[in-house]
Amino acid sequence: MSFLRLARLGSPLRILRDVKKNAVSTTTYDRVAWARGYETLREEMDYCLPGTVPADLTGTLWRNGPGQLDLGGVPYRHPFDGDGMVCALTFKDGRVHFRNRYVRTEGFVQEQAAGRILFKNVFGTLRPGGMLANWFDFSNKNVANTGVVYYADKLWALWEAAPPHRLNPHSLETVGLDKFLGELPFSAHPRFDPLTGHLWNFGVEVGLASRLHLYELDRTGRVVSHRVETLKGFAFIHDFVLTPHYAIFFQNPMALDPWPFVWGQKGAGECLNFAAGEPTRILVMPRAGGPMVTLTADPFFVFHHANGFEQDGLIQVDSVRYEEYLKAPEDKDFRTLGFDELPGGKLWRTTLNVVSRQVTTRCLGDRMGEFPAVAVAGLPQRDIYWGTADCLQNGPLQVVCRLNTQTGQEDRYSFAPTGFVGEPVVIPSATGGWVISLVYQSDVHRTAVAIFAAEQIAAGPVALLPLAHHLPYGLHGSWSPGFLSDTQS
Ligand code: CO
Repeated sequence: MSFLRLARLGSPLRILRDVKKNAVSTTTYDRVAWARGYETLREEMDYCLPGTVPADLTGTLWRNGPGQLDLGGVPYRHPFDGDGMVCALTFKDGRVHFRNRYVRTEGFVQEQAAGRILFKNVFGTLRPGGMLANWFDFSNKNVANTGVVYYADKLWALWEAAPPHRLNPHSLETVGLDKFLGELPFSAHPRFDPLTGHLWNFGVEVGLASRLHLYELDRTGRVVSHRVETLKGFAFIHDFVLTPHYAIFFQNPMALDPWPFVWGQKGAGECLNFAAGEPTRILVMPRAGGPMVTLTADPFFVFHHANGFEQDGLIQVDSVRYEEYLKAPEDKDFRTLGFDELPGGKLWRTTLNVVSRQVTTRCLGDRMGEFPAVAVAGLPQRDIYWGTADCLQNGPLQVVCRLNTQTGQEDRYSFAPTGFVGEPVVIPSATGGWVISLVYQSDVHRTAVAIFAAEQIAAGPVALLPLAHHLPYGLHGSWSPGFLSDTQS
């Protein structure tokens, strides 16, 4: 790398040497440039993107994530406290239309009217005024920012600790909190049964003993099964997998110290600690009924699973695994945090034998990353798609990567040093499929839509369409093929 290029990147600069490739590749990213991707986007827009995409790519990419990360001049403490902003990117006749709207949660509406933070948030954004303003406040603002799914003519913005918000799928206007399950939580990671097309989801009521709910919704959106299990200890479960015969949950080994929350010093999520002396509990629920089987493994932490499937009498679960809970140091703003201060996640395969109760684990590769996905979840899949750091150390996601789990071969495309990728959404098709990721381009402070042929990632995007602005780094998205039903909410 030339000195000119180094000078242009400015300071602080990290130079990371990929030692396993004999120091041939030297990669960089600029932390200040990366952090600008967390700037609030207040505007709500509708417009067509310039450029064209493959004409057979027809449908809507939904995407949710924190859009507002400060209010009244006060930055939020953690991006997970950001107010949910849903985007719809509609692909039709080779063109893409963009629309974004904030979810009008009760908290968002009241705080926008007041122009300042009024509520206590899970990840540490507190009401102004210190302890006295927050103590014995057991509420948590529902920010509706984690996932979005369109099912049975309903569009839901998802946040795991509460019921979903229903949106109009055409205008993205908020209809309201959808209490079709009463006050029960509905997680941000629903799964589809590849055979019936039914949507399955879970919700955890947390406490000293937690209650885990598993729901099945038929194609009309009716709840056709609902099972409840009481779990031992505090349960932090963000995702699950659904195989033809089982729903499987990894219960992370966590301990809750509630007092800083009670006294108003911290958000509830900041009071969680990794309980390294406890096992990771693997909860296997037979879908047809019958008792839940609990297996145990040496402690590790998981947010996301790539896939779960059954093969040769065993269950395989592929997950991004951390050796401890991903917790930021309390004295630092997340925008100034170095990735080397955080544990990185690697892909692991966990093999379960429900009969012998044996659990074995195997690391699938050395890369660190997040947001794993497969083309058809629930069935054996050769490839896992995810976002990874550009080097072998922990770092921001800059690479769209396809990992062949059978050979270990990788098919990668990097947007380093200036580009930062989001969750890859995989769209299966008869012609090989597509992968879409939103890329924050820090050199121009804009986000672009990158579309790859699913089996040729290294060839680079077949289309890269710029938005007119940046989008704050998002969380999860989903794809609805074809055109939406005209049913209005
Ligand atoms: Co998630």
